[in-house]
Amino acid sequence: MKVLDKKSDIRSEIEDARRSGKKIGFVPTMGFLHQGHISLIRRAKEDGCFTIVSIFVNPLQFRPGEDFHRYPRDTNRDLSMLESESVDAVFTPSTEEMYKKPHLTEVSLSNISEKLEGAFRPGHFRGVCTVVTKLFNIVKPDRAYFGWKDAQQLIIIKKMVSDLDFNIEIIPAPTVRDPDGLAASSRNTYLSLQERKRALVLSRALQKIKEMVEFQQITDAAALIECGKEIINSENVELQYLEAVELENLEPVHTIKKNTGVLGAIKVGNVRLIDNIIWE
Ligand code: PAJ
Repeated sequence: MKVLDKKSDIRSEIEDARRSGKKIGFVPTMGFLHQGHISLIRRAKEDGCFTIVSIFVNPLQFRPGEDFHRYPRDTNRDLSMLESESVDAVFTPSTEEMYKKPHLTEVSLSNISEKLEGAFRPGHFRGVCTVVTKLFNIVKPDRAYFGWKDAQQLIIIKKMVSDLDFNIEIIPAPTVRDPDGLAASSRNTYLSLQERKRALVLSRALQKIKEMVEFQQITDAAALIECGKEIINSENVELQYLEAVELENLEPVHTIKKNTGVLGAIKVGNVRLIDNIIWE
């Protein structure tokens, strides 16, 4: 497994693989890997791709006061996990390597970037889209793998790829959960044992909504959201949003049907967590 931190080196490594006829599968991450990331990597490997993973905690997608500086980092542990998954190459650029100063260009999508997460984290998706565009231009993958865990990010990236004519297939993968139901996330490490118990209320509320839709055939979004909010508000957490939306454009929907989802965010102490259920 090659571990490279220079754009020029990763480019030539990938060019060699491409020349040998392999498809390039790309999994962008911010590291501190968990089973969610591993599921994306396994998908890429199963698809027979030359699999490249990037590890880069992108400062541009954190606002001042957010957790950029304390975001968990453990590159050695990440690399040994990637080695066991037989990943072909890992790109680990420094901030200086990624953003040569002055870096003046940003990529942003109007409308869908401003809703939900975007309302609580203004500028977040501009940072995500800018770094993902740069990574796509460096890696030039045939396929890139993203998790439904970050549903809004996935939807925005798909739209960006279509709007900007990237010749890249975006492959979505389901949310991986810990045995207690909590969606795997690098940020879960911030939670104390007590907070983790409280945090479970979000996945519990979403699970209840899923059951109401699938077993009781209740599809009225307002009723489902009200029930979900009641569950969340019964716990000592701060509900930031819980909304039923169309998956393509994140517009609110009245009825749950195919291509809709319920997306939510809570704060447990100082820790923000997101989760969702989708009907693809
Ligand atoms: P990060 O949070 O490290 O996530 C990297 C990828 O793993 C994303 O596609 C995310 O949706 C996916 N992922 C995270 N948790 C998951 C889970 N429990 N189940 C399935 N997939 C999961 O998302 C980012 O990094 C960054 O914004 C990035 C795209 C790398 C740009 O900086």
